[in-house]
Amino acid sequence: MSLIEDLERLESEGLGAIAQASDVTALETVRVALLGKKGSVTSILRGLGSLSAEERPAAGKVSNAVRATLEDALAARQSLLAAAELEGRIASERTDVTLPGRRRAPGHEHLIEHVVREIVQIFIGLGYRVAEGPEAELDYYNFTALNTPADHPARNASDTFYIEDLSGEKAVVAGESDVLLRTQTSPVQVRVMEAQKPPIYVLAPGRVYRRDVADPSHLPQFTQVEGIVVDRGITFGDLKGTLEHFCREMFGAERVVRLRPHFFPFTEPSAEVDVSCHVCAGAGCRMCKHSGWLEVLGCGMVDPNVFGYVGIDPEEYTGFAFGMGAERIAALKYGVPDLRYLIESDMRFLRQF
Ligand code: DAH
Repeated sequence: MSLIEDLERLESEGLGAIAQASDVTALETVRVALLGKKGSVTSILRGLGSLSAEERPAAGKVSNAVRATLEDALAARQSLLAAAELEGRIASERTDVTLPGRRRAPGHEHLIEHVVREIVQIFIGLGYRVAEGPEAELDYYNFTALNTPADHPARNASDTFYIEDLSGEKAVVAGESDVLLRTQTSPVQVRVMEAQKPPIYVLAPGRVYRRDVADPSHLPQFTQVEGIVVDRGITFGDLKGTLEHFCREMFGAERVVRLRPHFFPFTEPSAEVDVSCHVCAGAGCRMCKHSGWLEVLGCGMVDPNVFGYVGIDPEEYTGFAFGMGAERIAALKYGVPDLRYLIESDMRFLRQF
């Protein structure tokens, strides 16, 4: 009889321990202590063999019932604790999708780059192609082949950055070095005319360098966009019509364009182009210094001497060329009062565009 009592005691103790197990690991410890190989219930069940034949059926019945009860209780507690653990994990690992995200600031085009692209797009629309040339340029392309006389002031070492030539021997003095930082994008005209036969409709954007001190209207390094057209029957009227179209696309359909006579070594005749001020519509304001006009570019008909350097017959072909400063166009179009803002990388300024 004491065996049955032992079993009943173990059952109630076991159920208590099962109910108190607070997690799946603790429950497993309880299971091993009761029903494992060396468990308390298991060792009592082993004792059944030593009972008499009369005692055995009743004790066997009780012991089976106790084991079944404990197994059921363990299984029930196990699924309860497992479910609670899962709930706990779901709650603690939850992502709050309503929290504001971390903002990543995407970069954007610099205003100079933006303006160059605007200019290029206008001429691409007219069928021009884009060409490039080296920033470290030969004197020949930057000056000589552009019909610039040997004593022209722009060749002075005070205006142009000369680089030691490839031998590395020569001093950095005007005329003694063949390599310089190009002072204009016009040398690309010469390179294009050397490399291809007319018809030529080419635009050449790029960086240029001059020995200027930075001030509100000058930078020692800036960006130009050059244009060169060579074809049969090109006239000054084609030049004027093209630049009028450009100015209206850039500054607004109402703009009026005027050409003032000017001089460039590589064009004849040459002109400077003014566009009526888009801020005051020509009435006069601070932007146009009360003149009503903004100076936007230089241009002219390609000088026959330049054709001579590249082997184009001036009796068969004529052409026009133009060049403009992208920083200056940016300043005029977007109201930048000082060109230095464009190169100072102050995000408070740059973010406005
Ligand atoms: N290269 C000139 C400058 O830097 C600009 C220029 C004027 C370019 C007339 C041209 C042109 O192609 O025809 O001031």
